[in-house]
Amino acid sequence: MTATICGTGSYIPSYTMDNHDIARLVETSDEWIRERTGVARRHIIREETTVSMAAEAARRALKDADVLPEEVDLILVSTISSNVIIPCAACEVQKELGAVNATCFDLSAACTGFVLAYNTALAYLAGGVYRTALVIGSESLSNLTNWKDRGTCILFGDGAGAAVLRACGGQKEAGGSGAGPYLPVTHSDGSKGAALTCKSRHDFNGLAEEGRQSSPEDMTDESHYMQMDGQAVFKFAVKRVPEVIGEVLSLNRVSTDEISYYILHQANKRIVEAVAKRLAEPMEKFPMNLQEYGNTSSASIPILLDEMNREGRFAAGQKLVLAGFGAGLTWGASIVEWNR
Ligand code: ACO
Repeated sequence: MTATICGTGSYIPSYTMDNHDIARLVETSDEWIRERTGVARRHIIREETTVSMAAEAARRALKDADVLPEEVDLILVSTISSNVIIPCAACEVQKELGAVNATCFDLSAACTGFVLAYNTALAYLAGGVYRTALVIGSESLSNLTNWKDRGTCILFGDGAGAAVLRACGGQKEAGGSGAGPYLPVTHSDGSKGAALTCKSRHDFNGLAEEGRQSSPEDMTDESHYMQMDGQAVFKFAVKRVPEVIGEVLSLNRVSTDEISYYILHQANKRIVEAVAKRLAEPMEKFPMNLQEYGNTSSASIPILLDEMNREGRFAAGQKLVLAGFGAGLTWGASIVEWNR
């Protein structure tokens, strides 16, 4: 048994901030941001929330897949920026959609989150536990952004993307043996977590670890915003992403010639270009939309998938690689066969 993507959807807030708007907040320029990151503007929530964007992206994906909410068995929301802690965002989405038969939970793995959520849903479907899954990445990173820090506030944006997965008969050799889905390759290295952090509002500078009672005054401006060692993350990404793509291709005995597109997490144009170069693959196989949205963490891959789907850029039988990387550190890649 395996599973296939049978519909996609996305939701992008209409309010935008371009690089000139950012340059009014911190000392930077449109030229610097474009050159170092490729980002020109980002969309930022106003009325929306992580849950409302997730629900709208999901609605659009269900419509695209021609699947009714009642048919959904599993809703997985990947997010690091939900407006709700309990109930989980996935349960809130269930309520919005009326997907009364779904089991719902959230998954938190930052920019690798969508790939891990996709793999989780695939494992349930391939194992025969569920038949139809809704996998969503939704982020309101603007709420976690320190708008006084030019090293990070230039990078991030808000949005949501979703995919509907359906179980189908096994048609291929998995990892070379037996029928089943393509096997993913994923890694985590918690020892390098300091490269990209964002403290919970309940952990005021780690005072609990020191056995001291914390108070709101202990919370610094910065600790509950994303903090990043940009160069460390950059070096990690350009080394590990081509490696993990090589691993997933070799595990599944798929050659680069068979891959139509590499759908990478949209963090930085220079990272995407470096990955293409290391894999010796042409840039045409590396679609990008980060110029319009910035880095939307776990929403970036499903937003790009949805845009390409709606533009008619996929054909049945094409193979895609999804690759995510980010905080944790975490990174991973999956092969998807487009079969619509
Ligand atoms: N505008 C102008 N100058 C700036 C800015 C800015 N926005 N930001 C930094 N600078 C300055 C620095 O102060 C430094 O000045 P100095 O030489 O006088 O000290 C100089 O520019 C170079 O700074 P670097 O940090 O070395 O710049 P770099 O080329 O590395 O670019 C960037 C910074 C864009 C953040 C890059 O490191 C990057 O993209 N890293 C990866 C980030 C990423 O993708 N993170 C997300 C991972 S996914 C997730 O899980 C959320």
